[in-house]
Amino acid sequence: MLHPFPHQRESGQPIVELKNVTAGYEGQAVLSEVNLTIMPGDFVGFLGPSGSGKTTLLRTILGATRVFSGHAQVNGKRVDRRRSLAGYVPQLETIDWNFPVTVGEVVMMGHTRGNPLFPWHRQADWRTARATMERLGIADLEDRHIRQLSGGQQQRAFLARALVSNPSLLLLDEPTRGVDIKTRDEVMHLLHELNHQGVAIAMTTHEINPVAAYLPWLVCIKGQIVAEGPPSQVISPEILHLTYGAEMPVIEYEGMTLVAESPHHFGRNGNRKASANGNGRAPEPVTGHGHSHHGEAADHGHPVGAHGASGAD
Ligand SMILES: Nc1ncnc2c1ncn2[C@@H]1O[C@H](COP(=O)(O)OP(=O)(O)O)[C@@H](O)[C@H]1O
Ligand SMILES: [Mg+2]
Repeated sequence: MLHPFPHQRESGQPIVELKNVTAGYEGQAVLSEVNLTIMPGDFVGFLGPSGSGKTTLLRTILGATRVFSGHAQVNGKRVDRRRSLAGYVPQLETIDWNFPVTVGEVVMMGHTRGNPLFPWHRQADWRTARATMERLGIADLEDRHIRQLSGGQQQRAFLARALVSNPSLLLLDEPTRGVDIKTRDEVMHLLHELNHQGVAIAMTTHEINPVAAYLPWLVCIKGQIVAEGPPSQVISPEILHLTYGAEMPVIEYEGMTLVAESPHHFGRNGNRKASANGNGRAPEPVTGHGHSHHGEAADHGHPVGAHGASGAD
C-alpha cells in the first residue's frame, strides 16, 4: 500500500508559484493563464490527455519554455533554465538508450553546479552520486551501460540523476508510462518515500485509475488548468469531460474514486449489451484489465479529440 496521506503540507514560501502564466514555444502559446502553487512537501499529479500541455507545464517550471506573460517563480526567483532548482526526470521514451554512458555517469550529469575542471570537486560529486545511487538501491549498477537496465532500473538511474543535487522539488514526466505493473508500483512507492523524506513532487500522468487516483492532489490540464483538488473531487464526470472531452463515468470503490471505462466491444460479439460497468462493481482497470503495458484508461479511446492531435507525447 502507498502511504494514505501525503507528507504534511508545509507552510512558508512556495516552491513553485505561477501567476497568470501564458507559456509555450516560439510563436505558440500552449498554456494560458495558469495559476499554480506548489508548497514544500507537496505531491501533485498533472493529469490530462496527450497534447494538453503537461510536459510544457513541467518545462515551464524548469524555465525551459517561453513565458509570454505572467510570473513564473521557483523558490522566489524567476524561472531560469541555467539555474534550475528542480530535479527533472524526462519521459524515458525521449532518452537515447544507445548513448554510451554508464549509470554512474548518468547520475554524475545531475551535478549542475560545481566546477568539473577541479578534481576535488569531481571527487566530491562522485561521493554524492554514489550516496544517491545507494539511496535508490542501484549502487551495484554504477558501471552498467544504461542500455542494459530494466524499466525500473532505468527510472531509478534517472531519478538518481535528478536527486543528486539534492533539490527540494522533483519533476517527473510520465514516470509510469510504458512500464509493467510491478515497476509502476515500485516507482510510485519510491516517489512516496521520497515525498515522505520531504521532497516535493510534481509528476505528469494520463493514467487515472492506476496512478492519479492514489495521489493526494491532482491538477487537470487542457491548455489551462481545468480543475485542481484531491482525486475525490477532481475525478468527476464533469471535470473529466472538460479535461478529456469524453464521457467517463465515475464510481466509488473501496473509498476511492475511479473511472469506470465505457465498455468496449470489438470483434464478433462486439454489439452485445454490456453489463460489466456502472452497477457498483469494480471497474476492470483496477485489477487485471489486460492492457498491462500502459494500463491507462485514458488511452483506450477516451480522449479522442486530443489523441493523435499532437504526437508530442
Ligand atoms: N518543442 C516544442 N515546440 C513547439 N511546440 C511544441 C513543443 N513541444 C510541444 N509542443 C506542442 O505543445 C502542445 C502540448 O504538448 P505537451 O506539453 O508535450 O503535451 P502533453 O505532455 O500533455 O502531451 C502540443 O500541441 C505540442 O505539439
Ligand atoms: Mg508529455
